[in-house]
Amino acid sequence: MAENTFDAFQKARREEGALDLKVGDETIPLILRFHDVRKAAKNWQTYSSDAPFRVPVPSQEDLRSVRQLPIEVDPPQHKEYRAIVEPFFRRPTDPAYIAKIEALIDQHLDEAIARDSLDVANEFALPLQSKSLTLLLGVPIDHADLFISWGNDVLRVDPASASEELCDAYIEKQLDNAAENPGDDMFSALNAAQYQGRHLTREEKIGFANLVFAGGRDTIINFVTHTLAYLAQNRDAFERLRDEPDLVTSATEEFVRVFSPLTFLGRVCPHGAEIHGHKIAPNDRAGLCWLSANMDETVFKEPEQVKLDRRPNPHVAFGSGTHNCLGAPQARLIMRTLLTKLPQRVSELRILDSVASFEDWKVYRRQNGYKRLDMVFKGH
Ligand code: HEM
Repeated sequence: MAENTFDAFQKARREEGALDLKVGDETIPLILRFHDVRKAAKNWQTYSSDAPFRVPVPSQEDLRSVRQLPIEVDPPQHKEYRAIVEPFFRRPTDPAYIAKIEALIDQHLDEAIARDSLDVANEFALPLQSKSLTLLLGVPIDHADLFISWGNDVLRVDPASASEELCDAYIEKQLDNAAENPGDDMFSALNAAQYQGRHLTREEKIGFANLVFAGGRDTIINFVTHTLAYLAQNRDAFERLRDEPDLVTSATEEFVRVFSPLTFLGRVCPHGAEIHGHKIAPNDRAGLCWLSANMDETVFKEPEQVKLDRRPNPHVAFGSGTHNCLGAPQARLIMRTLLTKLPQRVSELRILDSVASFEDWKVYRRQNGYKRLDMVFKGH
């Protein structure tokens, strides 16, 4: 990959610090500099998440009917909501769980090596993400077949997407099943949970589950696919991971920094705000641009270079402050395991063909992943 392809916001970040994104009738100034993004992420009084459907951009009124939890609430309510699901998101630190993810990755590498070639986006990253998600949710692994059948664009910003309805129907059914036969899955935990001394409403339970599917799918798939493409295109990096396996932790952070699978998210400004001369009227939105912050040259030396041993690496790819990503331990475990096993098992990675996917707004364009990535995994 050529240098500088990662930094779609360089000019606007250096010259202005903000960039107006036009989305339908809305103008949403994106906050671009690292310290500004970190400050805004902490300042929920000015940059609020307490806005159903309006944290994602474009907003999702037409896509779902429930508030996503815990992301679409502010402190102090946020803390009690978040605590309900936190134990599930900590599962990736449990040795038995880690062993299951290792086995999954071995199984997918076995298959990749056995085949002449495979589409890494749909035949590697998607099933790996789906099966890993069943472990996190505590549901049978064969439910992954259903998640896979929803395709690679579930919960994208397409209101006509049938996948959205299928996902909702799955969540409803799981909540009903869990009410009849409680287990140690996330749906049973949501049925049993208390918030401010009462049980959760049906809408709240669906709002929690909906976010797990929405937040944990494309992000992981694009992270895995982009990283594998990079390693195929940069043989030195691949060899270095083989020679220096201790780099796996810092390499994982560096890949998530440069690929920043979530480019930005929205905040509502109830009282209005101003960022580097860009005015936000009361109740309009601003965007926290994680990708641009991660390319800020005042914080990251040669930010467009992938440095597998970059330290410190205070990136905000998983957000910052209150709403920092609950799924980060899962994403990190998957990537660290993959980066450990890949050089042990595979001698050469080669791209045969690819179709990139882009975020294409008028004011910026970035490759966020691949629709298709045909690759060869040559075993040792
Ligand atoms: C590389 C993969 C991932 C990236 C880059 C990513 C990125 C992010 C970011 C930037 C936020 C902050 C949102 C904000 O401040 O408004 C966030 C929050 C969140 N993410 Fe992730 N995410 C990833 C994987 C996952 C996975 C696998 C899951 C679930 C299985 C997940 C679930 C969540 C949840 C529930 C929140 C909301 C936390 C809260 O509101 O307290 N994410 N993520």
